[in-house]
Amino acid sequence: MTPAPFPAARLRRLRRTRALREMVQEHGLSARDLIWPVFIRDGENVEEPIASLPGVSRLSLDRMLKAAEQAHSLGIPAICLFPYTDQALRTETCEEAWNPDNLTNRAIRALKSELPDMMVMTDIALDPYNANGHDGFVVDGEIVNDQTVEALVKMGLAQAEAGADILGPSDMMDGRIGALRMALEAEGHSDVAILSYAAKFASGFYGPFRDAVGAGARLVGDKATYQINPANREEALACVARDLSEGADMVMVKPGMPYLDICRAVKDRFQCPTFAYQVSGEYAMLMAAAQNGWLDGDKVMLESLIAFKRAGCDGVLSYFAPRVAAALKG
Ligand code: PBG
Repeated sequence: MTPAPFPAARLRRLRRTRALREMVQEHGLSARDLIWPVFIRDGENVEEPIASLPGVSRLSLDRMLKAAEQAHSLGIPAICLFPYTDQALRTETCEEAWNPDNLTNRAIRALKSELPDMMVMTDIALDPYNANGHDGFVVDGEIVNDQTVEALVKMGLAQAEAGADILGPSDMMDGRIGALRMALEAEGHSDVAILSYAAKFASGFYGPFRDAVGAGARLVGDKATYQINPANREEALACVARDLSEGADMVMVKPGMPYLDICRAVKDRFQCPTFAYQVSGEYAMLMAAAQNGWLDGDKVMLESLIAFKRAGCDGVLSYFAPRVAAALKG
């Protein structure tokens, strides 16, 4: 649309009242757009705050179920589980990752029996189980690809077996989507969806998450040999194309706020279900500023999330999810 010259066109006419502004609002945010990432741990009746994520705690499964029920009643359709694995169970061979009775798989079963309508998403990567904090096996100082993919497939199958609705491979190994999709088909899990962490960048914004799952202090080196260089856009789009061609149903861009250009490019180029992860560091910086009284917390929370919708995302993983849903209701 080319506006008429001033004064025939005065763009402020439609900003004059709240009703006018709402009539011409282009994008909307609803609880339906949200996936809530939740940290789980062993124990009973435990809620353990995470210092670098104000307002977020590691929850024992009983507390997690209560929180999930609340979130579901606020209209949040999906929860994404991240385990704080007992430190004694972290090894270089990561067997706990595909143990059918590990913390995540027990949580999936509990959720599906108590709240069958809530979608349960999981994370596929070895870092919460790995002695050295990496997403893949480390052999002679290198993160090996193909051996890791075999382990990730076992991990994903165990989660599907436990009842997960959506699998989220976050490891950035090559070939994992195809291998996982074929294995799911072969094992009778053809309805399990894959939301691939397709465009996942080697970011500094994951710091508080690594504290939350207890992998940060263990991490040797960085993840730059498998996650994408933050300077690269074409490479990110190539990763998305590759994952879609291998059988991903939905794709994710991660982190979110510093990568909205990638979200828009993915939606425009592939027209597929597109998600963003507003990661731990993004949440932490908004919360820290709000707690200091430097920003209006609710306002920037809602503004940061509508930005994802404007950038073309169908939904967002956000630690703010229940607070957003409550704010939208109020
Ligand atoms: C691990 C994983 C990470 C996140 C989700 N899955 C961290 C990483 O890659 O180091 C980050 C989420 C967040 O920061 O909120 N595979």
